[in-house]
Amino acid sequence: MNDKTLAIIKPDAVNDKKAGEIITMISQAGFKIKAMRLVKLTKESAEGFYEIHKGKAFFEELIDYMTSGPCIPIALEKENAVEDYRKLIGATDPAKAAEGTIRKLFARNIQFNAVHGSDSDENAKKEISYFFSGKELLEIYPG
Ligand code: CMP
Repeated sequence: MNDKTLAIIKPDAVNDKKAGEIITMISQAGFKIKAMRLVKLTKESAEGFYEIHKGKAFFEELIDYMTSGPCIPIALEKENAVEDYRKLIGATDPAKAAEGTIRKLFARNIQFNAVHGSDSDENAKKEISYFFSGKELLEIYPG
């Protein structure tokens, strides 16, 4: 079933002590937390995760940002998870994000944008597998 997505509370939001509020918003929006951890990405792991953006003008800055402190990847479950979570976080650029969305409330700008969300069911599975494996992954995707 396509009911999973990967959220990341990014280093700016963790540093700003907003992780708790963001997790509350996610939970109250009806998402079930299936797995969660605090990690400090290495350069290699950040580059791997964001491989799709390699070559873009903002890539190096994105890697510096994502390795600047701990972040919190979270595997989420809900019917229509990818689309509903993207609605909850708002547009990549907080200046364009709808009122009340996580990015409107907590992001500083298009780069330091507080949270990540998978953009498709296919990528959700890849991204969840990037951070969770073994027994944890089996609990997220039973069978
Ligand atoms: P995210 O949804 O995690 O996907 C890629 C990330 O790159 C994005 O959030 C931002 O943190 C960053 N990003 C995207 N577009 C830009 C941009 N135009 N300038 C700087 N950073 C960007």
